[in-house]
Amino acid sequence: MAGLLVLLLGLALTGTAYAAFAPAGQAEQAVADQELIDEGRELFLVGCAFCHGQNGEGVLDVRGNQLGPSLVGVGAAAVDFQVGTGRMPMVQPGQQNPSKNVAYDEQETEALAAYVAALGPGPGIPDEETYSSDYLDDLSDEERDAAINRGQQIFLTNCTACHNFNGAGGAMPRGGYAPDLKGVSEKHIYEAMQTGPSQMDVFSDGNIPPENKREVIAFLNTLDEEPAYGGFTLGGLGPVSEGLFAWLIGIGSLVGFAVWIAAHTTRTKKGKAQA
Ligand code: HEC
Ligand code: HEC
Repeated sequence: MAGLLVLLLGLALTGTAYAAFAPAGQAEQAVADQELIDEGRELFLVGCAFCHGQNGEGVLDVRGNQLGPSLVGVGAAAVDFQVGTGRMPMVQPGQQNPSKNVAYDEQETEALAAYVAALGPGPGIPDEETYSSDYLDDLSDEERDAAINRGQQIFLTNCTACHNFNGAGGAMPRGGYAPDLKGVSEKHIYEAMQTGPSQMDVFSDGNIPPENKREVIAFLNTLDEEPAYGGFTLGGLGPVSEGLFAWLIGIGSLVGFAVWIAAHTTRTKKGKAQA
């Protein structure tokens, strides 16, 4: 009995001591978070609830088609990616939901992300240290080349099937396409891998650890800088555009040449002379 009493007393004392000495900042932080979540909910009800539901639970239309999926557990990273690239709010439901002009400013996007994150645990927005390729500047030349090489290997294994070997993108089965990856911000590349938008796979940290994701980003940056070698790249889309090029320019010039020959034969000359 005495032991129990001592234990209870100990617990009560630690509790009071903690309450007395705990940094007041923590409580303030919680209030600020709640304000951000409330602001996000306001924005959500106006701009997103029509498709995603009043509580982000998802909405089916009368025919049972999905207007918008449930957002419970997609995490702040998904919102930051979808809203930050202008994909959301979606305007026209369809096979493809391309990036477009961004509708919300940074602070509003943060509020929306905080609201959705509060619906259920999911991947958070990565901090700059996690995704930025700036760390390459601190490496030796060999280390940097090795990191970019690893990034390329990971890209070739995991991404080229859809985005093409040079990140130029390509058609997807059942309509739609995987977009060109040039000019996408480092944060959005990281978040795309984290959250797998639409038909793209999710690359969890178990699958591609954060430091390897950063190497993929470092590799993609080299594509942005790379000059095009050997004449026209034709969009780098491979056989389709090259075939079209050969067809239009190649066959077109043959036809033109044939017409030119025909126009200079004796028969046409004779015709002109008679006329
Ligand atoms: C199964 C096919 C597929 C694979 C594999 C795939 N992606 Fe994607 N990716 C897509 C599609 C489709 C989209 C467009 C999604 C949308 O618009 O909602 C996309 C979008 C993206 C975007 C956003 C581009 C933009 O314009 O905002 C990035 C970045 C990206 N992918 C990077 C990657 C990386 C890096 C890998 C490999 C680790 C990868 N993807 C693997 C299909 C794929
Ligand atoms: C017109 C309907 C519509 C509106 C409005 C809309 N969405 Fe969406 N949203 C969709 C659909 C449909 C998808 C699935 C898209 C896909 O797979 O490419 C989606 C997907 C998403 C995703 C990705 C979920 C995942 O699994 O990764 C997020 C996050 C999201 N929406 C957030 C928002 C936010 C935030 C807003 C308001 C600013 C919004 N949406 C407005 C229809 C809508």
